[in-house]
Amino acid sequence: MRFPQYRISFLLLFLASFTTNLKADNDCLRCHANNTHSIYNDWTERNEKRLMNPYYILDSLRIKAGVHGSFACIDCHSSDYETYPHQGELKLEPLMTCIDCHGGDENFADYKFEEIETEFGKSVHATALGEVFTCSKCHSQHYYQAKARTSESVRDIVKFSNEMCISCHDNTSKYQLMSDSLSPKLVETHDWLPNQKLHFENVRCIECHTQIQDSLMVSHNILPKEKALKLCVECHTANSHLNASLYKYKNIQARSEKGKVGIILANKSYVIGAYQNETLNLLSILIFMAVIGGIIIHSFFRIIKK
Ligand code: HEC
Ligand code: HEC
Ligand code: HEC
Ligand code: HEC
Ligand code: HEC
Ligand code: HEC
Ligand code: HEC
Repeated sequence: MRFPQYRISFLLLFLASFTTNLKADNDCLRCHANNTHSIYNDWTERNEKRLMNPYYILDSLRIKAGVHGSFACIDCHSSDYETYPHQGELKLEPLMTCIDCHGGDENFADYKFEEIETEFGKSVHATALGEVFTCSKCHSQHYYQAKARTSESVRDIVKFSNEMCISCHDNTSKYQLMSDSLSPKLVETHDWLPNQKLHFENVRCIECHTQIQDSLMVSHNILPKEKALKLCVECHTANSHLNASLYKYKNIQARSEKGKVGIILANKSYVIGAYQNETLNLLSILIFMAVIGGIIIHSFFRIIKK
């Protein structure tokens, strides 16, 4: 079979761009995906092994799985990084924000970036901390995934989302990038919440800390702590708060027949946390009957004795 000429040149062009991308990325990742890196030292005329700053070590698998996985490093970073030692002034290189690239772009209209930016502007983070609190403080441009839309597991979505908050609120060094005070421990500030671990695995922090915004999939206006949701019945009722937030995604609803969420959404009178187990139900009925039986027999013998 013969390929038309233009197809072959396309193929070559594609391969060429692929291999140069790959080469450039591999070159960065040779150092930035490892604990150590080697450099040739012109002064001592020797190869030297050095430790990599742990905050600059990237996870190449997570990058590939992210929304920007097809990017080369130097699509976002200056190509001057291709030389090492990196030039000092690169440290101050301004980087693009989410809005610089996505704002006003029809292709991403579905995500409503502009509205998210407006909502974020009203949040406690933006008002208390100003411009230093960028979108990237929560969303890593390296690893970001649109998890809530793509994953079918509630726990998976919750974990991905909560890690953004926990990685700062429970990490003193990262918190102090933003504030001079000590970060209050989440375990202590939420000690009024029973089964804390279970809750943090099943609901997102933003469920309680933002107001539901119907036009957005994810509300971004984090309210001051006084306005956080504390009422148990907001979720533990048939008409749960969560139906309008965490459970509203189509991908989760698609699991209707399989998962717990399906049962919740299909059954209007379902109460979260009151999911009944049939064996346990039977067991409790048996125990109840045994107790009643015991009381009857007991009273019977007491009457006989009298
Ligand atoms: C020979 C190893 C090596 C290679 C190759 C390398 N880097 Fe680095 N990079 C480092 C080290 C070490 C640091 C820590 C700061 C320093 O020593 O300059 C760093 C720091 C950085 C920083 C953080 C700068 C700062 O201080 O804020 C960025 C961004 C960066 N590199 C991007 C890249 C990119 C993009 C590439 C590929 C085009 C690349 N690096 C290739 C070793 C390397
Ligand atoms: C979609 C854009 C984008 C791509 C692609 C990208 N980066 Fe980054 N990178 C950023 C941004 C933005 C920051 C600053 C993070 C912040 O503001 O906290 C950053 C920060 C860094 C840092 C400093 C450490 C840190 O996390 O703050 C290093 C090192 C780095 N990038 C290396 C790389 C390497 C190596 C690649 C390729 C494998 C790469 N980056 C690809 C946007 C990107
Ligand atoms: C340098 C420009 C640039 C920056 C900065 C950037 N993006 Fe992107 N982003 C893109 C491009 C281009 C794509 C499409 C990539 C593709 O299709 O492979 C994309 C894809 C996405 C997607 C997937 C869209 C879809 O439906 O497939 C999401 C979500 C996303 N970006 C969110 C963000 C967020 C959040 C930030 C900030 C933390 C951000 N991006 C920063 C350029 C950028
Ligand atoms: C305080 C943390 C935080 C900040 C700051 C933040 N976000 Fe988010 N964002 C989240 C969480 C949590 C989610 C839900 C998890 C997910 O990505 O699915 C989310 C989801 C998103 C989504 C996906 C929405 C969808 O419909 O699927 C986009 C797009 C996004 N954010 C953009 C931004 C932009 C742009 C900014 C800056 C203007 C920003 N975010 C600032 C926490 C934050
Ligand atoms: C990069 C660090 C960082 C990240 C990520 C972050 N926060 Fe914060 N947050 C802060 C800091 C610092 C403050 C204190 C602001 C101030 O000085 O009042 C704060 C304040 C708050 C407050 C207000 C407390 C009060 O006193 O009223 C709430 C609620 C909150 N964050 C929830 C969240 C949630 C939910 C997320 C994830 C969606 C999140 N934060 C992500 C650093 C962070
Ligand atoms: C069930 C609802 C609920 C969930 C889930 C929840 N919070 Fe809260 N949170 C609250 C309430 C209510 C307060 C106010 C507590 C008070 O003032 O006594 C609060 C307080 C806070 C504060 C302020 C603490 C202080 O005293 O300065 C921060 C920060 C915070 N939460 C972050 C988070 C993060 C991060 C998560 C996710 C891991 C989370 N919250 C999950 C309801 C919740
Ligand atoms: C943001 C929604 C939300 C709020 C607010 C909330 N919960 Fe929950 N709660 C949940 C979810 C989701 C689960 C996990 C249910 C499951 O796994 O079936 C849960 C589980 C529980 C469980 C464990 C039930 C079991 O089956 O083991 C208890 C007990 C509980 N919550 C009590 C409370 C109390 C008391 C409050 C108020 C102080 C409260 N919850 C507030 C959403 C919430």
